[in-house]
Amino acid sequence: MEITAAVVKSKGSKFELEKVNLEEPGTEEVLVRIVATGICHTDMVARDFVMGAPDFPVILGHEGSGVIEKVGQDVHHLKVGDHVVLTYGFCGECEICRSGNPAYCYTFFERNFSGATAEGLHHHHDHDGKAINDNFFSQSSFATYSIAHKNNVISVPKDAALEILGPLGCGIQTGAGAVINTLKIKVGSSIVISGTGAVGLSAVMAANASSATTIIAVDINDERLEFSKELGATHTINSLRENVPQRIREILPNGVQYGVDTTGRNEVINNTLQSLAPVGELAVIGVATKPLELQTNAFLTKGYKIKFVNQGDSVSEEFIPKLIKMYQRGQFPFDKLIRQYAFEDINQAVEDSEKGKTIKAVLIIGEYSK
Ligand SMILES: NC(=O)c1ccc[n+]([C@@H]2O[C@H](COP(=O)([O-])OP(=O)(O)OC[C@H]3O[C@@H](n4cnc5c(N)ncnc54)[C@H](O)[C@@H]3O)[C@@H](O)[C@H]2O)c1
Ligand SMILES: [Zn+2]
Ligand SMILES: [Zn+2]
Repeated sequence: MEITAAVVKSKGSKFELEKVNLEEPGTEEVLVRIVATGICHTDMVARDFVMGAPDFPVILGHEGSGVIEKVGQDVHHLKVGDHVVLTYGFCGECEICRSGNPAYCYTFFERNFSGATAEGLHHHHDHDGKAINDNFFSQSSFATYSIAHKNNVISVPKDAALEILGPLGCGIQTGAGAVINTLKIKVGSSIVISGTGAVGLSAVMAANASSATTIIAVDINDERLEFSKELGATHTINSLRENVPQRIREILPNGVQYGVDTTGRNEVINNTLQSLAPVGELAVIGVATKPLELQTNAFLTKGYKIKFVNQGDSVSEEFIPKLIKMYQRGQFPFDKLIRQYAFEDINQAVEDSEKGKTIKAVLIIGEYSK
């Protein structure tokens, strides 16, 4: 069938809306009519080829939400008409998936970043029949329709607005999951969250919902820091103007128990480690452009744990419905992060996100009956 998709033709170039051909879903796949797709920083990382894959031309987008139109014959837990959120791809069969860690599936790269399916196939072709790199996070959802694998299609309740749910599939579950699934922070605990974009602010909301009593947000953007207070931050630090470890010791003389890093930056990660209390734990989430250097000797006597975390250690089939319930109960107001854009305005949405004007851009791509 013919669909409209946003194609990036070369490294760093703009998104171009084009008509392309989409194949029929395979036996374990699902065809989803996309209602909305969030824009995540990782889409820009891929546009800029920072991780060396996928190649160009490519269809990105990995926070899709929509309505199922077709299911393959080996898909039994989903049906036509279901409202769904698309998340990351995993095999569900390897020993890592079966141990409850699908975000670290042996075939994570193939299923999310390779630009094709795990079998090396493409769903999208241009009018000359030439394959387009696709299957980004097993969805490529900057498009009017997506094909996803049965594992990464999550059914959601029909009383939740599909227009806002897509970002739960990546950025929002990543930040919230780092706090709830990875660090499992305790009631009354303290946490520092560096970077107050969509991922960091989701961590702030999750820390608030987990009854942390000291939630310190660090950023270089005053507007975002101010906003983080509305979501539960008890203290904010602008690291351009203030010395982070010093300020944290003023707030908590023995140091902070937990840290989440969404910046991927050396100095920020080292500042967080210097601010941790003994046996403190740090979850590292942000994509880095340089290798990490640590002052190992200063930390050897501290008993710190550092975990590099993918997708907030989320088992999305359980975690996304949980976040929706928390949202509906007013405990996780992630809709406050969202600004909606028409699909045609994708380049404006990307620009606003990169300038820090918009926290979580969501493209409205299709309609659905409520
Ligand atoms: N590991 C994963 O599973 C996963 C999933 C989703 C996103 N990510 C990554 O997480 C990161 C955050 O994503 P996002 O969508 O929130 O991005 P974002 O760009 O909206 O947020 C990053 C924030 O960091 C701030 N920042 C930049 N330099 C800083 C500094 N020196 N000190 C303090 N703050 C600084 C920025 O002002 C911004 O507010 C990105 O790198 C993204 O690619 C990782
Ligand atoms: Zn697996
Ligand atoms: Zn993402």
